Amino acid sequence: MIEKKETILIVDDDPMNLSLLNDYFAASGFRVLVAEDGESAVQRAADLKPDIILLDIKLPGIDGFEVCRRLKGDEKAKDSPILFMTVIAEIAEKVKAFALGAVDYITKPIDLEEVAARVNTHLTIRRLQKKFEEQNLKLQRGEERYKHLLESISDGVYVLDRDWRYTLVNENAARLVHMSPRDLLGKKITALFPGIEESKFFKTYLDVIRTGQPGAVVNEFNFPDGPRGWYEVRVYPVPEGILCIAADITAHHLAREKIKASLVEKEVLLKEIHHRVKNNLQLINSLLSLHSRRVDDKKSAAVLMEVNNRIHSIALIHEKLYQAEDLARIDFDEYIRSLTGHLRSASPELAPGVRFKIKAGEILFEIGKAIPCALIINELVTNSLKYAFPRQRDGEIAIDLSVVAGDKAILSVADNGIGLPVDFSIEEAGTLGIQIVKALVKQLHGTLKIEKSKGSKFTIEFPVK
Ligand SMILES: Nc1ncnc2c1ncn2[C@@H]1O[C@H](COP(=O)(O)OP(=O)(O)O)[C@@H](O)[C@H]1O
Ligand SMILES: [Mg+2]
Repeated sequence: MIEKKETILIVDDDPMNLSLLNDYFAASGFRVLVAEDGESAVQRAADLKPDIILLDIKLPGIDGFEVCRRLKGDEKAKDSPILFMTVIAEIAEKVKAFALGAVDYITKPIDLEEVAARVNTHLTIRRLQKKFEEQNLKLQRGEERYKHLLESISDGVYVLDRDWRYTLVNENAARLVHMSPRDLLGKKITALFPGIEESKFFKTYLDVIRTGQPGAVVNEFNFPDGPRGWYEVRVYPVPEGILCIAADITAHHLAREKIKASLVEKEVLLKEIHHRVKNNLQLINSLLSLHSRRVDDKKSAAVLMEVNNRIHSIALIHEKLYQAEDLARIDFDEYIRSLTGHLRSASPELAPGVRFKIKAGEILFEIGKAIPCALIINELVTNSLKYAFPRQRDGEIAIDLSVVAGDKAILSVADNGIGLPVDFSIEEAGTLGIQIVKALVKQLHGTLKIEKSKGSKFTIEFPVK
């Protein structure tokens, strides 16, 4: 019944009593220490830290109460439970004993069975207490570790239950709302930030609770008494509600806004440049028109007119880019319609029956491809208008532009007019229009092919990328 190998210190100046208890506890398997006066009792208890002490009150020198008082004040001895043994059964003495930190008392003459039962009880209590303390310490360490971890996170971490109350917060989360974690715990986020129910943050909270899937939200936090700025909040479902990790991304957000603004500024600038280039080209055209009016020679006037049209085809590209949403690229279907419209209006001797058939779809070219391509179309359409339909002849000019396999453009300009001269050879043609076309095809790293059946057809293929 009595636990083995435990140490009991028996303090009594009565040799009879001492030997009785010594024999009994030794026989029960205890390690027994004895002391016959107060001083040596204090010494032994401090040195050997017994598991329990049986202490007589009446002792030579310092009495039991004083021994108890000293032991309770001694760091090394204070944990040993003390049971007083006394013939004095007066209430005042008992009270004094407990006040000094004793756990129990036994009245003399001693009943061994009773002493054993009480010693056993107190040893059991002590063991349980020790275990409890150990576990407490372990728990405390675990909690400290987890707290340390939580505090080492530079973001705000908080848990909200299904009533929207904070049930866990780290220092950073509390700092965000200018509160201490202690004050924040138990508060409702809905009470702290009136109107938060309408925010993107709250919608994400609800979504995470509804779906059980993690979510994230980036938005401006802007509530009275709350932190101001941009936050990215990652939200995770947990059994009691949601776990949120809020990162302050204000600096990042402002930097991005700045970049965005400067990009817009650059776009505006680029548009402005397109606008000015177009204006300047128009100015050159006006100057050329003035010149051509002064030229008597018809041939020279026609040459000036062609130069005019070439410049116009480039100016038109800049105009389209200036008007475009996407500054980098140009919609070619629209461009070809504008260009052919202009060329036709500049050919008054043409029969009204000559029609254009344009098929380009939504093809977008960057300026490096757009200008050579535009000039080629300008040259070829000019030729068709000029040569294919003489003497009010009717017909059709077909312009096709397509991109195949995402990276190859095919452009064809065909008419069903009188056809190219029989001796026409692309390699040998030294005339300016064809020379320009050949140079531009080269610039596009493309190929040029001519067909002479049913009028004439020029096909150019070039890589888009
Ligand atoms: N679509 C066409 N139909 C008939 N003849 C054409 C056509 N395109 C070009 N030609 C002929 O090819 C010649 C060369 O054209 P080009 O190099 O543009 O010179 P230019 O237009 O200055 O005469 C033209 O003079 C014309 O005789
Ligand atoms: Mg020509």
